[in-house]
Amino acid sequence: MEAKWSHLLNLLLLLLSPIAFAAGVADTLGKGGNITGDETLVSANGTFTMGFFSFGASNNKRYYLGIWFSVSPHDAIFWVANSERPLSDKTGTLVLSDTGSLLLRDGSGQVVWSSNSTIASSSSVEAQLLETGNLVVRDQGNGGVLLWQSFDHPSNTLLSGMKVGKNLWNGAEWYLTSWCSPEDPSPGAYRRKLDTSGLPDFLLLQGNATIYRSGPWNGVSFSGAPEVLGYTELVTRSMTISPGEISYGYTSKPGTALTRLVVTDDGKVNRLVWYNSSHEWGSIFEGPRDPCDEYGKCGAFGLCDPSLVLSLFCSCLRGFSNPTSSSSAWSRNASGGCRRNVGLWCSNGGTTTDGFVVVKKVKLPDTHNATVDMDINMKECRRRCRANCSCVAYAAADIRGGSVPGGCVMWMDNILDLRYVDQGQDLYLRLAKSELDKEFPLVAVVAPVASTVAALGLVVLIWWRIKTKHSASDGPRSPTMGDCSFDLTTVKMATGDFSQSHVIGEGGFAVVYKGEFPDGRIVAVKRLKQSALTDKGKRDFSREVDVMANVRHGKLLRLLAYCNEGSERILIYAFMPNKSLDLYIFGEPSDRARLNWRHRLDIIHGVAHGVAYLHQGSDESVVHRDLKPSNVLLDDNWKPKIADFNTAKLFINDQPDQSDLTIVVSPGYASPEYLQGDMTLKCDVYSFGVILLETLSGQRNGPTKGVISNAREFWQQDRAMALLDPTVPLPLSPPDSEISSELERYIKIGLLCVQEAPEDRPDMSAHHPELRHQPAAARCIGHIYSTIAERGRSLASTCMRRIS
Ligand SMILES: *[C@@H]1O[C@H](CO)[C@@H](O)[C@H](O)[C@H]1NC(C)=O
Ligand SMILES: *[C@@H]1O[C@H](CO)[C@@H](O)[C@H](O)[C@H]1NC(C)=O
Ligand SMILES: *[C@@H]1O[C@H](CO)[C@@H](O)[C@H](O)[C@H]1NC(C)=O
Ligand SMILES: *[C@@H]1O[C@H](CO)[C@@H](O)[C@H](O)[C@H]1NC(C)=O
Ligand SMILES: *[C@@H]1O[C@H](CO)[C@@H](O)[C@H](O)[C@H]1NC(C)=O
Ligand SMILES: *[C@@H]1O[C@H](CO)[C@@H](O)[C@H](O)[C@H]1NC(C)=O
Ligand SMILES: *[C@@H]1O[C@H](CO)[C@@H](O)[C@H](O)[C@H]1NC(C)=O
Ligand SMILES: *[C@@H]1O[C@H](CO)[C@@H](O)[C@H](O)[C@H]1NC(C)=O
Repeated sequence: MEAKWSHLLNLLLLLLSPIAFAAGVADTLGKGGNITGDETLVSANGTFTMGFFSFGASNNKRYYLGIWFSVSPHDAIFWVANSERPLSDKTGTLVLSDTGSLLLRDGSGQVVWSSNSTIASSSSVEAQLLETGNLVVRDQGNGGVLLWQSFDHPSNTLLSGMKVGKNLWNGAEWYLTSWCSPEDPSPGAYRRKLDTSGLPDFLLLQGNATIYRSGPWNGVSFSGAPEVLGYTELVTRSMTISPGEISYGYTSKPGTALTRLVVTDDGKVNRLVWYNSSHEWGSIFEGPRDPCDEYGKCGAFGLCDPSLVLSLFCSCLRGFSNPTSSSSAWSRNASGGCRRNVGLWCSNGGTTTDGFVVVKKVKLPDTHNATVDMDINMKECRRRCRANCSCVAYAAADIRGGSVPGGCVMWMDNILDLRYVDQGQDLYLRLAKSELDKEFPLVAVVAPVASTVAALGLVVLIWWRIKTKHSASDGPRSPTMGDCSFDLTTVKMATGDFSQSHVIGEGGFAVVYKGEFPDGRIVAVKRLKQSALTDKGKRDFSREVDVMANVRHGKLLRLLAYCNEGSERILIYAFMPNKSLDLYIFGEPSDRARLNWRHRLDIIHGVAHGVAYLHQGSDESVVHRDLKPSNVLLDDNWKPKIADFNTAKLFINDQPDQSDLTIVVSPGYASPEYLQGDMTLKCDVYSFGVILLETLSGQRNGPTKGVISNAREFWQQDRAMALLDPTVPLPLSPPDSEISSELERYIKIGLLCVQEAPEDRPDMSAHHPELRHQPAAARCIGHIYSTIAERGRSLASTCMRRIS
């Protein structure tokens, strides 16, 4: 009966909706028609709306005619007709004139904006807001020929189906222009345009100066923004290169989320998607991403490496050096670039002794003045470059062939704006023979990931032993441990027979209960779910017991006892009344204020102690692998204890499914190499760095942009204090200046710990003779300083150990 009713209701709705549409809103404006006041045009399926909107205070409102996403009328206006001539009241009218021009008139009838799309004869013109968001004017009497479209006049937004680029017949350009401010759509300082000279490159300009490049189009994507390859299921990108036009655009795939690309008024490029569930726009890409995206930062023949925090990112290409005597002065402003050490030896008859060295994984340099030939292969490219004395470098122009890239781009004067980037391309740099013959120090290369390690990296484990002195196969020894003895009956009583009211946490493989023993002791009881009781699950239980039984440290949560009777697998830990660190550092202002400056430093030191102990424990090393604030518990005195049970991820199914994998890798905390399945102690160092930065800033490290990039930015700008969470209570003494320099020191450590390359990160506890009496974090600090001072980057890598 009920089903029938709902069926009928659906039918009614279905019948009603087109009528409602036809009666209420239309998507077309006929000749002589107008819209005014609150009237709108709405595209066929309702995705886009055109109408009047306003900005400004009530006594000084400015009215505009624009088009927006119907789902978010206020923050996704992507086209504005009268951006430079706002109306002062609500009396504006948009009219389609007899001759096919859209005219926006103010209350007095004055035209403030016109599409200028006139035709001679007044046949049947029509304006329509299409389901793509494009407003078009067509001559219906002439086969619907297009007279004008809003997509040809972009504002700050690139939508699916729009394009940026150049019409080569008439020289007209399509580009995006930022708004002046969030409430002023008149043209702002930034433009996003396609550089069509050389290889097409998507530029961000401030005035006439390039400030950021996406990198040359390589047939697949812009070479400096490989992130976009991560959302190929959302959009299809395309580059049109024809005699009449060079343009770039994208189209959304059917059924996917709404998306838009925006140049913001503060000079950022932002790709946003609409989240249906939370009803908000989320950013999935923002450029510039890091200091190395700053155009020409390291000058001609310089190379920017975002992981070289201490040398301020810049170095010279092999065979080049910086012209100043002090390299630290140079790196502070490297835009002057580098000089060639040894001149090339080449005569244009084709004789040369020069050769090439490959610079791997880069965003290709600016190709504005480069020579491009799509029809030759790499071998011919090399030959031509070598034969032309002006040619300083070459690279593949089209990588669609995969391992056999094609096309040829040759740089004839400068190498500018070169940086390392994930999935970057190879650049072949011309050098004199004597430079090529020189012994070049081997750069530490991260070995290819062995498949077994890769598999392990994905498996749901929380503790992993690097080495053990005694066999791990003997498993749990006895059902008692420490001074707490119990049996299953006692545990059941302590947890109200594992009642729901005692649950304090639940993960995929275990549930955590609060339990109270007869002697008054309060504990956390972690119980393996029956579904996780596989052979693998049992082995991992044994491993946790075995590992935890052997680690005893004030900064690690203590395992009090365990139970493995029948099909029960239970671990009993000390109970932490203040729960976990994340609740405070990311909490409400009142929660944040509970952890003052000293508490936070103590917590950082404590975590450093704990991790250092794990890494260099008395007889074995342990990688935690999932360090994050929710795994740092706080005792009654706000002292940290490293744990795992908030996420209860110890146990494994034999066949972990995809949803489990996303739990294992905690986004924001997992180091880049760990995401590739490569696991070392340095994974924990990375996570520790993130925890440090988050604890001081109260900002999360998101998957795209977060506390790491903020910290880098502030550190570079010498504004450490700006990173500190303003709700953190500061002590009356020492003075702010001391806090500031202390903070700076911590941020520096954090940044060193989150470097991309594991070998660049410091160890948690390198022993330095003068610092032996200091806590681990201080040793870490001391180590960092001595590393910098004495041996540059090499020392850090000597302590690295690999699991095999
Ligand atoms: C707009 O159209 C309405 C009828 O649809 C008409 O009464 C009104 O005069 C028009 N306004 C203008 C400014 O053309
Ligand atoms: C509107 O939606 C319907 C059903 O989803 C679809 O078949 C139709 O193509 C859409 N119309 C336009 C103009 O996109
Ligand atoms: C339309 O033409 C007028 C006069 O030539 C010009 O001032 C105005 O900028 C043009 N409008 C657009 C949208 O191009
Ligand atoms: C940019 O260049 C154009 C053409 O060369 C010039 O007219 C304009 O004034 C320049 N703008 C700025 C902000 O320098
Ligand atoms: C989002 O919600 C709208 C309306 O409920 C629906 O039409 C659309 O298909 C949804 N889009 C996605 C990607 O789920
Ligand atoms: C950096 O150096 C260049 C010359 O090498 C100079 O033109 C520029 O103004 C300097 N920039 C800053 C911020 O000092
Ligand atoms: C291209 O050549 C022009 C003129 O020589 C020069 O001003 C400009 O800096 C060059 N651009 C690049 C990217 O090398
Ligand atoms: C070298 O290449 C440049 C740019 O393509 C060209 O103008 C010049 O004629 C070439 N020189 C020789 C000797 O081929």
